[in-house]
Amino acid sequence: MQGIVIVTGASGFLGPALCRALKAAGWRVHAVMRRRATGPWDKAVTLDLGRHCIPDDLLADVDCVFHLAGKAHAVAQGNDADEEYRLANYQSTLDLLAAARVQGVRGFVYFSSVKAMDEDRPPVWVGATPGTPYGRSKRAAEEAVLLSGSVAHPVVLRSSLVYGPHPKGYLARLIRAVRAGWFPPLPELGNGRSMVHREDLVDAAIACAHEPRARGRTYVVTDGTPYSTRQIYEFILEALGRRVPGWTLPVGLLRLAALSGDGIGRLRGRRFIFDSEVLEKLIGSACYDGAPIARELGFQPRRTLRDSMAEMVSTISEVSWF
Ligand SMILES: NC(=O)c1ccc[n+]([C@@H]2O[C@H](COP(=O)([O-])OP(=O)(O)OC[C@H]3O[C@@H](n4cnc5c(N)ncnc54)[C@H](OP(=O)(O)O)[C@@H]3O)[C@@H](O)[C@H]2O)c1
Repeated sequence: MQGIVIVTGASGFLGPALCRALKAAGWRVHAVMRRRATGPWDKAVTLDLGRHCIPDDLLADVDCVFHLAGKAHAVAQGNDADEEYRLANYQSTLDLLAAARVQGVRGFVYFSSVKAMDEDRPPVWVGATPGTPYGRSKRAAEEAVLLSGSVAHPVVLRSSLVYGPHPKGYLARLIRAVRAGWFPPLPELGNGRSMVHREDLVDAAIACAHEPRARGRTYVVTDGTPYSTRQIYEFILEALGRRVPGWTLPVGLLRLAALSGDGIGRLRGRRFIFDSEVLEKLIGSACYDGAPIARELGFQPRRTLRDSMAEMVSTISEVSWF
């Protein structure tokens, strides 16, 4: 047995995979979550981080904290969005760091996001101001992890979009739309979106916790291949066993529809289901450079989106759209 680690947000999309891998590596895993759930951990603690005080003994004898808990998804929701994200992502991190300092915890691996960077800039991101409440809260939390001096071995992982079984968010919506036949066959637009498989991100996190060279570093994690919307569409069709249509929808038509959506949104004071922001997310680029973690720690992703798509399609629920 190697010792004790804490995984916050253990019951989410990434948490169980990380807990499973840590247990397989011989760690005793204490999981922190808001609502009690069963999973691959030795002990479960229910706690609303950022809002409730951290019990004195939570981090006693803990070697490393993997901090995943937080409010994800970079969508602003009303005027309180900044405060909601601040509490869930920044305050929870501050509280954990303070407790870690008291208990002499050695390592702290923070699961941040590429959204903590300014997406409009070329790949030189230091000093950029992130443009969403989610990104701002993640960026502030990153700075606390790296600059507070609370632990000896702080590391920040900026993950790109994560794929894997039971996908959530963007990929889940895309798969459901293609499966339902609603998603139009877009032409190849040459855009690119970085992503990473959940198991590869887990491997990267565990390597960062151990590897002395990772101390104080911030790493972007991707699978090394940006995917265009057209490619993702074709992978989904392939996994569904369907043929790629022989026609494509001119993207200009989608732009017109998005502009109409913007207008409807302005008229009713609330965003329409399809507008320019949704279109940009669909056909825009979000490419990030994951080379430093490969160069410095020898991290090599082992999965690709195409190879993983069949499992994703088969594990996605039929019921809800979102
Ligand atoms: N998935 C991605 O594509 C992706 C990409 C980049 C970065 N990340 C980051 O990776 C981390 C994990 O992502 P995920 O996809 O696993 O997220 P997720 O599925 O939304 O899970 C988040 C987990 O955090 C818990 N949680 C939320 N607020 C909490 C609080 N105040 N106190 C205690 N627990 C709380 C949730 O519990 P409840 O179920 O009770 O709400 C849930 O277990 C997040 O920090 C996210 O920002 C994820």
